[in-house]
Amino acid sequence: MEDAAILRPENGAPLVFTVDFITPVVDRAEDFGAIAAANSLSDVYAMGAEPQVALAICGFPDEELPSEVLRRIFQGGRDKAAEAGCAVVGGHTVLDPELKYGLCVIGSLDSNRALTQNAAKPGDRLVLTKPLGFGIASQAIKQERLGEADLGRVVEAMSALNRGARDAALAAGARAATDVTGFGLLGHLHNMMLSSGVAARVQVGAVPVFDFARPLAAAGLVPGGSAKNLAYVEAHTRFAASLDETDRSILADPQTSGGLLLSVPAESEGQLLAELEARGTWARSVIGEVIAGQPGSIEVEAGGRS
Ligand code: CO
Ligand code: CO
Repeated sequence: MEDAAILRPENGAPLVFTVDFITPVVDRAEDFGAIAAANSLSDVYAMGAEPQVALAICGFPDEELPSEVLRRIFQGGRDKAAEAGCAVVGGHTVLDPELKYGLCVIGSLDSNRALTQNAAKPGDRLVLTKPLGFGIASQAIKQERLGEADLGRVVEAMSALNRGARDAALAAGARAATDVTGFGLLGHLHNMMLSSGVAARVQVGAVPVFDFARPLAAAGLVPGGSAKNLAYVEAHTRFAASLDETDRSILADPQTSGGLLLSVPAESEGQLLAELEARGTWARSVIGEVIAGQPGSIEVEAGGRS
């Protein structure tokens, strides 16, 4: 499945249409609103599109939380959408024992420049634009085991729009794109390779990971989604024998508002990295390459550690 549906009106430019909402991954209400909005907008960017207008969706536990919290979540979401040039024009809130918030977004698409998941080709380079570790971080936040400085960086990285990554991908002629979210890097890579009818080889040491993630994962702070994600990709993935439990759980760590995973022709790799650098993305790492093989299969090699 693509990150968003494409609508092609008879008169006028094509549109993309997507919805996403999440439970809190951080404590501060404004930050949660901003991260949830960036996460929803990300599917529009993954299609190579431009967010235009959004509706908010919220489940709110009326009895437990003051309505001030609701106001602050919406403010964070609205400000983030405004940064993307996208107006939140309405929405709907229901009573829900578990807090949830997100956006339904419509974006506009230049029809010649849609980024989809089904066009990766053998020989392409795979590039990731944010480090992994957001799932581990939110687990650590819940247990108050993430330091102040790391918390600040994580909130900033999760709130960061994938707009710059999209611009770079379009400028460099990326062939395929998706955003890395709940299924983790391996899950989304598998989906992209499957719909492109190709396979992938990844060098574990080349995958960007937040410094705090490995020690926390090794100490057991691994979200439940990580095991589910590993089970999902297990049948399609071959791990080098030297990879340990921690390596695997980081590669499957469920991300919220993760970076874009891009497949770019080898000859455009240099241009893509330069375009990403110019836009200051959180990472610009060549994590592996697309190869011919069983569609959707992944080989994870031990190499690439620096
Ligand atoms: Co997506
Ligand atoms: Co999504």
